[in-house]
Amino acid sequence: MAESQIQNDRVQDTCNRIGDLLKEGERGAWMVGDLLVELSEINVGGKPLTLKQVQQRYLSEFSYSYLAQLRSTALEFPEHERHEFLERGATWYECDIARRSRANCIKAKIAEKDEPLGNFVDFILKNKGRRRLNPREIVKQRIEQAALETRQRRAFSVEQIRSSDDDWTANCHHRSCLDVMNDMDPESVDLCWADPPYGAFFKTRDGSFQEPETKGLEAACDNKTRDEAVALTLGLIEGAARVLKPTGKIVLWQASTEPDRPEVISLLHQLGFDAILPMYWKKKQPQPSDFRIPFSHETERILVAARSREALWTPLGGKGRTDVITDDVIAKVIPDPMEYEEAPPSRTFYRDVAAGKAQYGDRHFFEKPLNLCKFFLEKLTLPGDTVIDVCGCTGSMIEACIEMDRRWVYCETHETNFNLGVSRIGEAMKQKFCDDDSEHASSRA
Ligand SMILES: C[S@@+](CC[C@H](N)C(=O)[O-])C[C@H]1O[C@@H](n2cnc3c(N)ncnc32)[C@H](O)[C@@H]1O
Repeated sequence: MAESQIQNDRVQDTCNRIGDLLKEGERGAWMVGDLLVELSEINVGGKPLTLKQVQQRYLSEFSYSYLAQLRSTALEFPEHERHEFLERGATWYECDIARRSRANCIKAKIAEKDEPLGNFVDFILKNKGRRRLNPREIVKQRIEQAALETRQRRAFSVEQIRSSDDDWTANCHHRSCLDVMNDMDPESVDLCWADPPYGAFFKTRDGSFQEPETKGLEAACDNKTRDEAVALTLGLIEGAARVLKPTGKIVLWQASTEPDRPEVISLLHQLGFDAILPMYWKKKQPQPSDFRIPFSHETERILVAARSREALWTPLGGKGRTDVITDDVIAKVIPDPMEYEEAPPSRTFYRDVAAGKAQYGDRHFFEKPLNLCKFFLEKLTLPGDTVIDVCGCTGSMIEACIEMDRRWVYCETHETNFNLGVSRIGEAMKQKFCDDDSEHASSRA
């Protein structure tokens, strides 16, 4: 009999066995996997037999992906290694979840390429019956754990920064901006950068508020319900009215998912901020919102308010004179477009993690891009001016101030965000003033 006929018969017999075995459940799954591995070592017509050929020619009643799953699990748990796990009570199904979880974790950069599969099997066995485990869930838990570790590391380093005698830390307030502004000298600030919680976030079918699923992007936030957010917004406008110089400005961020809040507009007028410029920040794509409505939003609302139009006159004028701020507009205005980063950070975060440039927990869901902050500094302030970031969170605006030689005050109530902000500010101070002596550095804050 010709060699090729012998091979074909062998493949046919093996596939018949596979068909029978697949009816045997768990035991069958391991044996099928081993047989599929064996088949892939057979040469037909001078070439190795592919799984696609096996499925199409002999096992077309089973899906390709199922067969691939069976083969991969057998390959990754070779017979001599799998016994240990089976004796400890792991099923084929659990071993398969462990294998897929490990692959997903490596892809998501939360497992090293050489992390043993046993770690994943152990985790699954330890949590058997306690929670529903699938690869997605395991990846999510690992990401949460990684983000928690980042948080703890950051809290420790911020503790050290605060116990040092760097004067700039005195400008970082871990308390409500309302109290901070109350304690400040009146008419001492040029720009109030106010990015409070919007209290308007919804993405569920019933339109209710839901915490965003952030996959390792920080999402902590105080005063996030609608009532709290509105009260804070009104309070900070009053505070700003007290601390701003007569020529001072407020940049107030709001959601664009609803009309401007009438109480906000009327308070601004009541406090003398009669020049209000309504603007939009246009993001790259529409955001998730109430899926029953045929429209979504790809913008955030910005109200630039001053006590007079003259206060908004600028010696710089010129570029980017539009009310819709896009990446292109920002790139025209900020001093060094080479440093331009794509907005917003939440879009680039996973790419950064995958490239090893960021860690889970490093970035915040609400973070405004550095260059967007620089854009407003360039438009509304001059070097030496004082900026207060009342809802500072990641400190993106303060980093912009440091880089652009503005004086600054940072406020944030939430401990996680405060630690995030202060460590970022610390990094920015180090970068900016690493060649200067510390006395000079602290005098700039
Ligand atoms: C939308 S985020 C600001 C994001 C920030 N612009 C950035 O780029 O990172 C709002 C922040 O305000 C903080 N916050 C809430 N109430 C506050 C208060 N009374 N004083 C200071 N910060 C507050 C929240 O914890 C949250 O971190």
